[in-house]
Amino acid sequence: MDQGLAAVVLAAGKGTRMKSALPKVLHPICGQPMLSYPLQAAREAGFSQLRIVVGHQAESVQRIFAGGDIEWVEQTEQLGTGHALMCAAESLAGFSGTLLLLCGDVPLLQAETLQMLQQFHAQEQATVTVLTAELPNPTGYGRIVRNGEQILQIVEEKDATEQQQQICEINSGTYLFDAEFVFAALKNLKTDNAQGEYYLTDVVAAAVAAGKKTRAIAVADPTEVMGINDRCQLAEAEALMRWQINTDLLKSGVTMIDPTTVYIDAGVEIGSDTVLHPNVQLRGATKIGQNCIVETGVVVVDSKIADHAHLKAGSAIEGAQIGPDCKIGPMAHLRPGTVLIGHNKIGNFVETKKILLGEGSQSSHLTYLGDAEVGRGVNFGCGTITCNYDGVNKHKTTIEDDVFIGSDVQFIAPVHIGRNSLIAAGSTITMDVPADSLAIARSEQKVIEGWSLRKKTEES
Ligand code: UD1
Ligand code: MG
Repeated sequence: MDQGLAAVVLAAGKGTRMKSALPKVLHPICGQPMLSYPLQAAREAGFSQLRIVVGHQAESVQRIFAGGDIEWVEQTEQLGTGHALMCAAESLAGFSGTLLLLCGDVPLLQAETLQMLQQFHAQEQATVTVLTAELPNPTGYGRIVRNGEQILQIVEEKDATEQQQQICEINSGTYLFDAEFVFAALKNLKTDNAQGEYYLTDVVAAAVAAGKKTRAIAVADPTEVMGINDRCQLAEAEALMRWQINTDLLKSGVTMIDPTTVYIDAGVEIGSDTVLHPNVQLRGATKIGQNCIVETGVVVVDSKIADHAHLKAGSAIEGAQIGPDCKIGPMAHLRPGTVLIGHNKIGNFVETKKILLGEGSQSSHLTYLGDAEVGRGVNFGCGTITCNYDGVNKHKTTIEDDVFIGSDVQFIAPVHIGRNSLIAAGSTITMDVPADSLAIARSEQKVIEGWSLRKKTEES
């Protein structure tokens, strides 16, 4: 481990201004924790050895990102950005390649920008290269003090002279270092500054003093290096990212009638010629096929939906797999474990959960189907209920192909219905039904003629 590209992401800070019990870097942006974005950008840019410096609520952060390619570094006391990187020294001992430093609270940074930074760093043969931005209002950021190409130092706002405060080129907090140099320089950092911290930014002046090349390059779009410190900035970053997601999808052939009202998480896939109506939310690990229509008020979470689906207004779909040519809703509720093979109809006020529905089977209205396996060509009448829960355990209903179920039928599970049977309306089915049968389970109707007239005479 002495060559190549390594990245350290700083994520130990408390994020006081978020006023939250959740660590800042775990706040979601377009469905994913903030910290996932700089990590992804580093990976995409080819930085394969990843270190994250954690401190505040370290365990919560580690739990969310467990089991990956990450090596964790603990900074038990937050003594400044320089100290934070110092904490990673041991974990990178013997590494003499190029080291990327990122902040965990800068989620909009793009992999292409990191690649551009790396190319510039290599071409200039610099020891330190800082990613900067030109801001009309640089307040709060460290300022870049230059002498032509060479940058002389980075001055923090609180330490800057009035003249230095006029500088509009700011430090984004993203750097490339010669690893050996930076770890040696960190050892000499002092805390004689306005905040009494070990400033990582001081390694720039140290490199200059050692006769090394220091360089800075500005991002084309300054919003990329925006840091998230409070919930206003969080909302701003989310809006920017959402707009980017929607723009990419529009360009890839998805229609949105009003893209300003469509909320799509990062990583959601949508096929071409699919039309999204206003006020749609597509969240989590969701994939939607081609030529689908998604109407107003539809919320899809962690679901796969094949081509030609029509998701009608107000439907909620979570953890479901929907095959081709299905019609869902309006106002249908598909819960986790719902699998529709294809050409199915799930109509208004139908709720499904943990159910496999064969090709062409349909349930058009007011029905609950849970813990059931249903064959092809089955028709559920209005008001069917699979009574799956006895208060302690869940039980399964199995219905074979081509069964016709009249309205208002209850299946008291466990129960098995053989193929091509007919279940009469109003039946409460408690026993298995063999194939090709008619099952009627309702009390016989009684008619008392003249009852109304007799009652009236009694009352008067
Ligand atoms: C830092 C830079 C500043 C730059 C700005 C960009 C320094 C001294 N200043 O300032 O020049 O313009 O970022 O946003 O570096 N962190 C730790 N451990 C610590 C301190 C911080 O992990 O002990 C992490 C924080 O969680 C955060 C990042 O480092 O992710 C930046 O720290 P922050 O305190 O926000 O630095 P700034 O004052 O914004
Ligand atoms: Mg900051």
